[in-house]
Amino acid sequence: MTTEAKLTALGSALALKEGVPLATGEGLQFEFPGGCLDLTRHLIDADVLTTLLEHAEAKQLCESRDAMFAGERINTSEDRAVLHVALRGGIKKPIHVDGEDPVGYATEQLDRMLVFADAIRNGKVQAPSGVPFTDVVNIGIGGSDLGPRMAAEALRANASGPRVHFVANVDGHDFELVTRELDPKTTLCLVASKTFTTLETMMNARTARSWIAQAVGEDCVGAHFAALSTNAEAVREFGIDPDRMFGFRDWVGGRFSMWSPIGLSLACAIGSKGFRELLAGAAAMDHHFAEAPTARNAPMLLGLLGYWCRVHLGFAGHAVIPYDRRLGRLPAYLQQADMESNGKRVSALGEPLTGPTGALVFGEPGTDAQHAFFQWLHQGTDRALVDLIGVIHPDHDHHEHHRALLANLVAQAEALRFGRTQEAARAAAEQAGLQGDALEVATASMTFPGDRPVTVLLLERLDPYCLGSLVALHEHRIFVEGVLYGLNSFDQPGVELGKTLAKRILPQLSGSDSEMDMQLRWLLQQCQKGTNH
Ligand code: F6P
Repeated sequence: MTTEAKLTALGSALALKEGVPLATGEGLQFEFPGGCLDLTRHLIDADVLTTLLEHAEAKQLCESRDAMFAGERINTSEDRAVLHVALRGGIKKPIHVDGEDPVGYATEQLDRMLVFADAIRNGKVQAPSGVPFTDVVNIGIGGSDLGPRMAAEALRANASGPRVHFVANVDGHDFELVTRELDPKTTLCLVASKTFTTLETMMNARTARSWIAQAVGEDCVGAHFAALSTNAEAVREFGIDPDRMFGFRDWVGGRFSMWSPIGLSLACAIGSKGFRELLAGAAAMDHHFAEAPTARNAPMLLGLLGYWCRVHLGFAGHAVIPYDRRLGRLPAYLQQADMESNGKRVSALGEPLTGPTGALVFGEPGTDAQHAFFQWLHQGTDRALVDLIGVIHPDHDHHEHHRALLANLVAQAEALRFGRTQEAARAAAEQAGLQGDALEVATASMTFPGDRPVTVLLLERLDPYCLGSLVALHEHRIFVEGVLYGLNSFDQPGVELGKTLAKRILPQLSGSDSEMDMQLRWLLQQCQKGTNH
């Protein structure tokens, strides 16, 4: 019997036991760089855990991991290596890609980028008018926005430089809302785009260029820009000096690029020291992933459990709930990292996949989320894997708040996993004085089935090191799941069709506002008929 077939049998047996708390696995609480994991509330027993570990061997997880660290071209559809680990000291053995030492190149660009960030912070690089830059605006979308934005928000307590802002959406309101309180004469714009062709980013960059040029004149506009990209030619054509371009290679996927010069906005906020600590945290997780035995390896175990929940228990949802308001953008960040990586329907060889692949990732900070969608999590007819992420030491003195916050985290973990039995629900309803039909209704609605798998993850504190480790943990966990699903986690063909169609439709929307109004109506009719395909 294959390990896959054994897991299927174990999963079906478990489905029959719905509502019955299972024995939890042994050895499922352990530390990782910057934090600790508690996996004891997963829907597994010793048998399932053993089989998952056997499955890891059968699927050659360690070999796939080693191939990534060795710089092999594991992004087969795009014929590229996958080396975000090279950006942060995650690689120990020398490697070569396309005749170049990736670590050497990445280090050179990182050093340049961090010198620039510090110069912006300490005023050595100033606006042409001779005053320091007060504001930095990152113009980028997707992976060129979500990582630095998430981290800048999470690490606000560590920020001391110019104010950092983010414009991503092509909706003109985004640009307007961000820039309306800024002075273009003291604003630095960072055009963050791996390809330097993304419609949203290039449109926002052109708008920013006009906004600044109007204030400082054409001659000075270049001094208000820097570019973070792989596309030197397009950067030059846009009019940004090569000295102001910080590069990376195509072996950095967009959603794995916050460690590259794409992180410049974050570096402007937390400085080179903070940024290097972030990289050190990620590198520590890389080493843990590369070296720890599978049974004690945080990304491996999380990946195996994610795959178990998705494929063998059939849960299509994965909720990410940070019990720290500063991690408010983490769910959105992981949504892209996970869903753009593993939301696929064909294998790495282009063959149709028969089983389920990546889950729908969603989330909001706790406790807000408890008052929004936790009803669905606890008592809905579907189930989801739930990650509860806490921080042990807060950066404030409101100890009562922090105790309440963590008490909620633990309470939710228990309620999701163990629920409330019918007997306990009846006893509570009786105590509330209910009788007859009302007692029966209350008993039914106050019963919680439980058996929602929960990962509890605690960080020591929310500093750059721990955040780096947390993000790298998820990057690797997503990769592990992709290998188990049998797909290539590093391309994103599913976002191309919409981009191509938008580019085709845009030229049709030109002319005066009233003409455009008519054209829009016409276009919407065409779309309904499907003629744009
Ligand atoms: O959403 C598709 C995507 O290609 C992402 O993978 C990427 O992060 C984003 O667009 C932005 O791309 P670029 O950095 O090239 O502007």
